Amino acid sequence: MRRRTFLAMGAGAVAPLVLTAPADAAAAQSHTTPAADSAGSDSLRDLAARIGLRFGTAVIPTDLDTPSYAAVLADQFSVVTPGNAMKWGSVEPTQGQFDWSDADALVAFAERNGQLVRGHTLLWHNQLPDWLTTGVQNGTISAGELASLLKQHIFTEVTRYRGRIWQWDVANEFFLDANPSGIDPNNFWIANCGTEIIADAFRWAHEADPHALLFFNDYNIAGEDGTNAKSDAVYAWLRQMLAQGVPIHGVGDQGHLDTQYGFPTQMAADLQRYADLGLKVAITEADVRTFVDGPTTQVPTDHLATFAQPYEFSQMLKAALAVPECISFTCWGFCDADSWIPGFFTGQGYGTIYDVNLQPKPAFYDLQQDLRLAAEGAPHRVGGSNGGFGS
Ligand code: XIL
Repeated sequence: MRRRTFLAMGAGAVAPLVLTAPADAAAAQSHTTPAADSAGSDSLRDLAARIGLRFGTAVIPTDLDTPSYAAVLADQFSVVTPGNAMKWGSVEPTQGQFDWSDADALVAFAERNGQLVRGHTLLWHNQLPDWLTTGVQNGTISAGELASLLKQHIFTEVTRYRGRIWQWDVANEFFLDANPSGIDPNNFWIANCGTEIIADAFRWAHEADPHALLFFNDYNIAGEDGTNAKSDAVYAWLRQMLAQGVPIHGVGDQGHLDTQYGFPTQMAADLQRYADLGLKVAITEADVRTFVDGPTTQVPTDHLATFAQPYEFSQMLKAALAVPECISFTCWGFCDADSWIPGFFTGQGYGTIYDVNLQPKPAFYDLQQDLRLAAEGAPHRVGGSNGGFGS
């Protein structure tokens, strides 16, 4: 019903955010359901629970500190990822001095609200502490020392949260955006330590927490590049790693889409191909951005984008639902007001499922409908699990 209202109004309307009208806002409240995974609730987390999927979001401190955000976070999501709080630069800004406050607060929130946690991320070229990158640059940290500092970092962080992290994004963004693709030789870690550092990171993380599911995470690895070159390279590498016995349990496709490129046609097939290697799969950072009037209001400048945005979100979820080994679908933030998109992609926004006023957007209702149909429609979704976590 609400979707129909939007379509009818959206077709000729200049301003697409019809769902922010007071009547809609009031009605939208009824979609904010209690946290319990009770049958019949139409929250995203409860609908997903019925089909063996965890529905998640990235979280930043504002989400926990603002009651209205915290309520949506608890009500709608069953798995949370720290947006920044577990990155090396956040937890050890000064060498040997740790700040776990944001990460601890998120894990505690998740446990209070029956949510699992995706740890993010242990080995990445971005958001490293300055002391580390500067030390490497000026030669005071040698390649050998760099590898042992990483080992220490992984053991410290993974051990701290041992038994409380469902999935760890151990390694993030190592492949080239090129055709053919492959591991980027100029990546900070590869250039300094060689490619074996990735396998080592998985081995160390596994030793520190043998029950956590360890993921390789990257973007454009499910056909988003149009050529499938990156997916082919990641697939070949994962195969090789698994043949060598490296403890990799899952692959995460970030899922940062942009309406100007359209939806990739082989996402489900690519995800299934990873799963057929014996891996779990996950969508880890879903958002769908488009061009907007400005970062505060984030009204799409092309009114067709108000259809393309929820369409691409829905297609992405359907691709995930088609793969029984897909265990979680995580949005990279849930509200346009605090999304990373306006700060990173000039002129773009409108990327999440709640608008700048924390009202659900058409994408929210589309995802709700997709989840419900996966449980009740034909064909039903089968499979999915928490990968044995906690058992
Ligand atoms: C982003 C955060 O959302 C921003 O707040 C931060 O300034 C930069 O990083 N891929 C990833 C995430 O794996 O860690 C990134 O998160 C978004 C792209």
